[in-house]
Amino acid sequence: MKQAKKQTKAKEFQNSLTPHSGGRGPYLYLISIVAALGGLLFGFDTAVISGVVPFITKQFSLSGAEIGWVVSSLILGCIVGVLLAGAPADKYGRKKVLSAAAILFIVSSLGTASANSVFTFVIFRVIGGFGVGIASMVSPMYIAEIAPAKQRGQLVSLNQLTIVIGILVAFFSNYLLVNTGENNWRWMLCVMALPALLFFVALFFVPESPRWMVLHNNPEKALQTLEKINGTVVAQKELEIIRNSMKNESDTSFKAVFAPELRLPLLIGIGLAFFQQITGINTIMYYAPLIFEKSGLSINSAIYQTILIGVINLVFSLVAIYFVDRLGRKPLLIIGSSLMGVSLLVLSISFIYGLSSFVTLVAILLFIASFASSLGPITWVIISELFPNNVRGKAMSISIVFVWISCFFVSLIFPVLLEKIGGGNTFLLLAFFCFMSLIFNLKFVKETKGKELEEIN
Ligand code: BGC
Repeated sequence: MKQAKKQTKAKEFQNSLTPHSGGRGPYLYLISIVAALGGLLFGFDTAVISGVVPFITKQFSLSGAEIGWVVSSLILGCIVGVLLAGAPADKYGRKKVLSAAAILFIVSSLGTASANSVFTFVIFRVIGGFGVGIASMVSPMYIAEIAPAKQRGQLVSLNQLTIVIGILVAFFSNYLLVNTGENNWRWMLCVMALPALLFFVALFFVPESPRWMVLHNNPEKALQTLEKINGTVVAQKELEIIRNSMKNESDTSFKAVFAPELRLPLLIGIGLAFFQQITGINTIMYYAPLIFEKSGLSINSAIYQTILIGVINLVFSLVAIYFVDRLGRKPLLIIGSSLMGVSLLVLSISFIYGLSSFVTLVAILLFIASFASSLGPITWVIISELFPNNVRGKAMSISIVFVWISCFFVSLIFPVLLEKIGGGNTFLLLAFFCFMSLIFNLKFVKETKGKELEEIN
């Protein structure tokens, strides 16, 4: 009986929003793209280091441990950045925190580019990490909060697309700048200041999230934004729904994040974050040339294959954007985890039996394609949808910090595993995590396609 009543209510709710389907095209896409520039800087900043390392190693005569710091300091910064961003995003608004991230990107870019010691370099890298951490959380959060339900998956996935574009731009710009003399690495880092500045300026032209505005007693402004996005009729209804949901959820404290009804969403958020990384995407993203070399390719074709990886990553992010609101989040996660597992099994066999480097390449490309159309974007999409308006910032922080902790752990331990247990066993272990991810998705993840944020909560 209760169930039937709930279902009718959900139907009524959906019907009340039917004129919704389109959203206001260009405006909505424009503000989503501005927010997704955070993803571009996230991608650029994580990838640019691969081109910088060989030159900075020479310039500062770095030891192995110092190289480790140069690479991983960014990720440590991300962990802190994500943890610190939740509360201000709830208190001061999503826009202000994104602007702060843009400033951190500019400072880090100029600071690392002009560093004269490895210590200063690492400090400015950590500052960049704060920016990446903040952007990795607040960009998808902002997009999820402005997007109409039917387009939300697609629009949040834009953020993954821009992460991937950022990675590709970093590879290309490193490649173009490599012959600019002994300061080449400084130029590689410096160029990031430009998109960061663009991000900072563009943020002046986007509105604050309507959900945040309602939370902070500014329903008039929220309505203006909702009208621009959805048209007058739908905007009124949506405002009402947001306001009603907030009557029941006014507690914004950290305690509220750990309320019993949020335990399952937190488990899903943390699980998705953990599996996005532990399944090994960044072993390929950060170490691809090394893997290709180990499988017998020359260094030149290894770099060429790395670019191929970037292109496949980009194309299959578009596939996700197409399917996420049509097929739904859960089917993509299930298909993606399975294919990632299968491709890693093939990769493992290829290493153990010394199969041709062509098999290695095909397995790696299948792995990237499967990640890019599933765990890559959908993790960000679902984490930005799971939590109620009053604690979204804090709860997203707690979930996303697991992305960065796991990323730190995997990127640190991968080269050690490769050395100690070999490629075959390492990829077998990663395949095991893909199948664990499959079981997790089947058992815990709930479909959120087409539902309003308030309905999901
Ligand atoms: C992940 C990153 C990864 C990137 C690759 C993102 O969703 O969070 O760790 O490097 O996808 O495309």
